[in-house]
Amino acid sequence: MRVLLLGGGGREHALALRLAEDASVTELICAPGNPGIAGIAQQRQVDIVDPSAVAALAVEEAADLVVIGPEAPLVAGVADAVRAKGIAVFGPSAEAARLEGSKTFAKDVMTAAAVPTARAYTCTDEVGTAQALDEFGPPYVVKNDGLAAGKGVVVTDDRAVALAHARDCGRVVVEEYLAGPEVSLFVVTDGEAAVPLLPAQDFKRVGDGDTGPNTGGMGAYAPLPWSPTGLVDEVMRDVVHPTLAEMRRRGTPFAGLLYVGLAITAAGPRVIEFNARFGDPETQVVLALLDTPLAGLLHAAATGTLAEHPPLRWRDGAAVTVVVAAEAYPAKPRTGDVITGADRPGVIHAGTVRRAADGALLSAGGRVLCATATGVDLAAARDAAYDLVRGIELPGAHHRTDIAAAAIEGRIAVP
Ligand code: AMP
Ligand code: GLY
Repeated sequence: MRVLLLGGGGREHALALRLAEDASVTELICAPGNPGIAGIAQQRQVDIVDPSAVAALAVEEAADLVVIGPEAPLVAGVADAVRAKGIAVFGPSAEAARLEGSKTFAKDVMTAAAVPTARAYTCTDEVGTAQALDEFGPPYVVKNDGLAAGKGVVVTDDRAVALAHARDCGRVVVEEYLAGPEVSLFVVTDGEAAVPLLPAQDFKRVGDGDTGPNTGGMGAYAPLPWSPTGLVDEVMRDVVHPTLAEMRRRGTPFAGLLYVGLAITAAGPRVIEFNARFGDPETQVVLALLDTPLAGLLHAAATGTLAEHPPLRWRDGAAVTVVVAAEAYPAKPRTGDVITGADRPGVIHAGTVRRAADGALLSAGGRVLCATATGVDLAAARDAAYDLVRGIELPGAHHRTDIAAAAIEGRIAVP
């Protein structure tokens, strides 16, 4: 099959690696792609949030499957436009992508489906926000109601900081703080049947020991040695199937990748957020362990035949990815620096470009590269990932030094 993959970050590089390996894929085309993807797929230029432009490209390329990586095209209705051309697309409709695009919508669906999540209020003015903050008490959780690429959330003990964030955003969701380790669970679904991937853990804060501001994610690992037995079954039963049923009931079935962000609290798993696409950088580790051909799986979800798909096969061992970020990320990432040492297997490109003049590799985003490695266990995978990091040179770059460390040392406890 001919596959068109939309996007150009680390997640898409990880997706492209596995799609290219799938024997059923005769041609892999990526728009816009990135320098890491350049060696494994053809690249095309298109405005990825323009539904008719993407649909036209899919027709022109005679795509049998379109895989949409990032959230912005989903929310813009790109999946709908491609589907309207009769082409299979992995990615939800704009209506269904509201599970990610609007925190208020997601809460509404969770309430209707009795899905366990933090209690929350949507607030549009200072008085309402202050009331909500005082009802829940610190730590305060204030979320921008719209798409914010994982950076619209402030968690703070400082009431003034919480109020200021609400003022900056306009419309926010204020919610109860959930205490416990976080899990990212990806679920492939055709709207009815649903197949969970391996749970992973992301590192949202910029600094070691979970300090500093939230980012898009600074690293990830899988599997989770500390995860309670039965966790995935419980989440499928209490979260995923009720949510999918509620979306069907509303006439807007969710088909694609349902990303369930959870906190494992003393009272059990609670949903922190839904996303409508693969997570970044968790995808880098989860897909590194997937043995089942990826295109076949995504095509089954895109064509409503997931129930007939064989059970997934996983590789033994573990995977770790460490994000190499640009100077001053996440506040004001510096771009345009020359990178060396990035042309090794396992180095995933997230924010890079080639300079036209001399082909030099330059940083072009906040999260620049993801050093990804597998190993017989987490410790081996972690050592290999940090070996890759040490081989990368990027002026001013920084990375977390504690990705997967607490899990390896047995320091993660479910309350
Ligand atoms: P979100 O964009 O909703 O995923 O939030 C980003 C990050 O903020 C999460 O990964 C958590 O680390 C943190 N966070 C969000 N909501 C809560 C909550 N209710 N309780 C504790 N931490 C939260
Ligand atoms: N790693 C978090 C996200 O993709 O939203």
